[in-house]
Amino acid sequence: MKAKFITVEGTEGVGKTTNIEFIKTWLQSREIEFIATREPGGTPLAEEVRDCLLRNREELVDSTAELLLVFAARAQHINTLIRPALERGIWVLCDRFTDATFAYQGAGRGLDKNLITLLENEVQKGLHPDLTLYLDIDIELGLERASLRGEFDRFEKEQVSFFEKVREGYKERVAQNPSRYAVIEAGQALQEVQIDIKQALEKWFPLEK
Ligand code: TMP
Repeated sequence: MKAKFITVEGTEGVGKTTNIEFIKTWLQSREIEFIATREPGGTPLAEEVRDCLLRNREELVDSTAELLLVFAARAQHINTLIRPALERGIWVLCDRFTDATFAYQGAGRGLDKNLITLLENEVQKGLHPDLTLYLDIDIELGLERASLRGEFDRFEKEQVSFFEKVREGYKERVAQNPSRYAVIEAGQALQEVQIDIKQALEKWFPLEK
């Protein structure tokens, strides 16, 4: 089977970390060679950009500057890690990708979606996930869970209304291209969430006979 690119998306406190561990276990059970990475980040340079983006600061961060930093990190990540891995037959599991940009910078910050599409085309050159697991959760519930993790970063400090827009942004992406997404109801008990994730993985990547 050709190497696949899987991404995991969702708003704050949706349980990405726990469920990514579950996906890793599933990949291992299939004896699939893979790397697990994240955005923003995934390479030393892109992790530095991540730190710039997430760090709390006095200075107001311009939304266009934020968008360009996200894509700067993504270019480095794709060209030095993701694409070389896929070309070598290694699957890539990524915590967030460009759907997050449409959701956070597009829907959340209100930036022009055409500008994001322009950057997407330029930076990704046709690279898109084979499957995106979108974990959906009630915003207030997610923020409550996220608050248990300790201090909030620059994004986590946003208002509930910002995250409501982000959630709508994700749903809009799913509606535009439903065949790429598995929508997972992440407010369920963890066991139920993971049954749904396993089902999606098996549907997208059936065992070859
Ligand atoms: P997380 O990976 O711990 O969820 O944190 C990453 C943060 O970065 C999260 O709040 C969403 C934000 N983000 C964007 O705003 N745009 C993007 O394109 C990506 C990948 C992440």
